[in-house]
Amino acid sequence: MSRKAFIAGNWKMNMTAESGKKLIKELAPLVKDANCDVALCVPAILIPEMIKAAEGTNIKIGAENVHWAKSGAYTGEISADMLKEYGVEYVIIGHSERRQYFGETDETVNKRTLAALDAKLTPIVCIGELLEERENGSTENVLSRQLTEGLKGVDDISKVVIAYEPVWAIGTGRTATDEQAQETIAFIRRKIGELFCPECAKKVIIQYGGSMNAGNCKGLMAQPDIDGGLIGGASLKLDFATIVNYDK
Ligand code: PGA
Repeated sequence: MSRKAFIAGNWKMNMTAESGKKLIKELAPLVKDANCDVALCVPAILIPEMIKAAEGTNIKIGAENVHWAKSGAYTGEISADMLKEYGVEYVIIGHSERRQYFGETDETVNKRTLAALDAKLTPIVCIGELLEERENGSTENVLSRQLTEGLKGVDDISKVVIAYEPVWAIGTGRTATDEQAQETIAFIRRKIGELFCPECAKKVIIQYGGSMNAGNCKGLMAQPDIDGGLIGGASLKLDFATIVNYDK
């Protein structure tokens, strides 16, 4: 089963309209012959400008979060339809920073995922264990819970992208080894097979995220179960193009 690789950037709360446009202009010619799908998930306020900047390129623009309600009294939130109106195709859901700082739970991840799918946005659902959980041997339990609860009620799992991001590797420069990432992502695929069906699990794109960079992307991408990357720090610079071109 061949899965098309997918490299996505996560700008987090970085960049401005000016620096974002400049980066997209510089990246576009460098990534135009990519063999993988390419996206940049950007702060909501930058979406309209970044969609314009990426017009006519193979860079898709994504969001970093979405609310589950269609509309209503949710001050400060953004709905899936608002994102769709501008041509957004992807949305990151349940990033560990949202779980850690903004009260995101498996239940809210689930609600956001279902709302994204309903609006025909592709959710990039983030899961991952804390350092303490890796060290006390509960990684698989944590990931099982995040998958079971976060993906409840999903009809077609092939429409969901999973990003496995060990929390201890995010922004720390401490990447999981190729073997650790492969072993854990293979576990995630088996678990998706149990929750949905083994054949469906073979179709799901599973990214690795956490200090992935121009130097370590080839080794990670060579692993059979790793289908892409969710890139934080390295997506703020031209290194992102090197990662996108990992196979060249
Ligand atoms: P990082 O972030 O690449 O800076 O570690 C990854 C992420 O948080 O998605």
